[in-house]
Amino acid sequence: MNILIIGSGGREYSIALALKKDNSVDTIYFSPGNGATQKLGLNIDISGYDELAKFAKQKDIGLTIVGPEQPLVDGIVDVFKSHGLNIFGPSKLASSLEGSKIFMKNFLKKYNIPTAKFIQTQDQKEAEKFIQSLNEPIVVKADGLCGGKGVIIAQTKDEAKQAVKGMLSGESFGKAGEAVVIEEFLDGYELSLFAICDGSDYVLLPAAQDHKRLLDNDKGPNTGGMGAYAPTPLIDDALYSQIRSNIIEPTLKGMQKEKMPFEGVLFIGLMIVDNRAYVLEYNVRFGDPECEVLMPLIKSSVLDLFYKTATKDLKSLNIELHDKYSVCVVMASKDYPYKSSPPAEIIIDEILHDNLKQNAHISFAGVSEIDGKLFATGGRVLQCVGIGDSIKEARDNAYMLCGQIHFVGKQFRSDIAYQAL
Ligand code: AMP
Ligand code: GLY
Repeated sequence: MNILIIGSGGREYSIALALKKDNSVDTIYFSPGNGATQKLGLNIDISGYDELAKFAKQKDIGLTIVGPEQPLVDGIVDVFKSHGLNIFGPSKLASSLEGSKIFMKNFLKKYNIPTAKFIQTQDQKEAEKFIQSLNEPIVVKADGLCGGKGVIIAQTKDEAKQAVKGMLSGESFGKAGEAVVIEEFLDGYELSLFAICDGSDYVLLPAAQDHKRLLDNDKGPNTGGMGAYAPTPLIDDALYSQIRSNIIEPTLKGMQKEKMPFEGVLFIGLMIVDNRAYVLEYNVRFGDPECEVLMPLIKSSVLDLFYKTATKDLKSLNIELHDKYSVCVVMASKDYPYKSSPPAEIIIDEILHDNLKQNAHISFAGVSEIDGKLFATGGRVLQCVGIGDSIKEARDNAYMLCGQIHFVGKQFRSDIAYQAL
């Protein structure tokens, strides 16, 4: 089967790596891909979803997998389905779970799904009144997509009011900030959970933990994610069953009731406070770098998983997982996340050690090929993924691989998975 993957990051690279283990996968096309995906398949440069769908028909693509949120929120799935194509991802309507924080929070409230107390508003005065009623810190969120930057944890009430002002005036996030959500701060630990859904049935992948801050000990600015690991020991059977019955099942039923059944991967950002799970946010795609740790843990066919989801046949799927751990360390460019960095050539030492060859690999993200050489040209450049029988072993493998990779200005955290060790 020919496959089309939409996106250009480490997430999409890791999906392709996992698919390539399946003999029934023929050519993988990437739109647009990156400087390393062209070694796994073919990068294409086509703009417009209708044009892409025509390309998919022409090339006999049996399945399209959408990585990032923007095309989903734009409605790529609806376009492909109208052409009779199989595509993995939620419809435009169902993508509102990520595309609008207000839609998401109202949905959670309507279906009684645990989340932080909140109001939504477009009015500065109403916002200030609610801010006055909360304890500090206070969380202010822009309604629309802001590339992961639309959430402000204000340490004081004044800072929260200023944040609201910046959003409502359009100054901070343009149209995405025209309406805001203000909510209470939840103090606990975060988990990322991924439910693959076909509208009515779902398969839950092992819980992962992301590391959003740039620096060790969770210091520095928020980023797209500096590393992840899975499965995390910070969840037990009781918590899993609480999350299934209080969160995932009401979400899938609620989405059916709203006439927008959820298909694709539901990424649930959770905060665990005193053993109770609260939804911080939904995303309608895989997390990056969470995807890079989850893909290698799937023992059964990843193609089967995606295909059966897209054709609403998850009931017949028997997913098998490796009894292993996986840790991913993100290597970022010099000025990430503040601004773009000058291109830097990437040198990768030859890996001689058998253990490392078998239990570690690179997932490439912000890289370009220039004159046959690989350059770091994006913010998050690549991820070193280690596999092992314990989190410690997986982490050692990931960090050993980091030691083999060189480019000017490279930065990475040295404490990924610390909460589990
Ligand atoms: P979101 O995009 O809504 O997940 O927010 C980004 C990050 O902000 C989350 O991963 C949390 O670290 C933090 N955050 C969001 N909402 C809250 C909240 N109500 N309480 C505490 N932290 C929050
Ligand atoms: N790693 C978090 C995200 O992909 O949103």
